[in-house]
Amino acid sequence: MSIRLLGIAGSTRRESLHKRLLHVALRAAESEDVRIEHLDLRELDIPLYDSDLEGEEGMPEGVSRLREALKSSDGVVIASPEYNGSLTAVLKNAIDWTSRPDPRFPDDPALVAWRGKVAGILSASPGGLGGIRGLVHLRAILSHIGMVVVPQQAAIPSGHKAFHENGSILDPNQHAQVESVGRAVAELAAKLAAD
Ligand SMILES: Cc1cc2nc3c(=O)[nH]c(=O)nc-3n(C[C@H](O)[C@H](O)[C@H](O)COP(=O)(O)O)c2cc1C
Repeated sequence: MSIRLLGIAGSTRRESLHKRLLHVALRAAESEDVRIEHLDLRELDIPLYDSDLEGEEGMPEGVSRLREALKSSDGVVIASPEYNGSLTAVLKNAIDWTSRPDPRFPDDPALVAWRGKVAGILSASPGGLGGIRGLVHLRAILSHIGMVVVPQQAAIPSGHKAFHENGSILDPNQHAQVESVGRAVAELAAKLAAD
């Protein structure tokens, strides 16, 4: 059985360290039976959540795209920067929008985009802690919306100096740690899909 994994970076920056992390993790997870998709929050251009806007205009197109991609995925790898000790506002905003029901799909169960799916989390930072404080919050939020977050995670310190030109991580142990997150998500998602 084939499964589908989605990669989301919590940064819109073009040269984002977190987009690089996702590529390492998801390349390791990819196989004949594991299809990979990346969605860039920069391209989705999601407005700030506003319940008046939601009531008057419905779900913005970027939110619908993300929600549908999540619905048809079995697992998600999220790499988010730590901003002031937490996840980024752009990522939290995307989670908030996609946690909402879409009136065009009245039969969707609550939290259909997220609940019951597998997640893996990653961070990197120019600082010495690699963004690990943000991962604590991210793990709690994803668990709150019903995801099964794998215990493996990676927080890469000195992230601005951590990558080779070819996208791999200089420190082989760190590279393997990031890969292990992608693989763990794929393995658990495949097991759950087979049940
Ligand atoms: C508003 C803001 C707050 C930040 N706060 C933290 C922080 O609390 N801890 C940390 O390690 N890095 C912090 N940083 C630095 C980010 O880790 C760094 O910019 C990182 O490269 C962002 O990831 P990206 O390359 O994927 O955009 C902060 C950056 C910004 C812009």
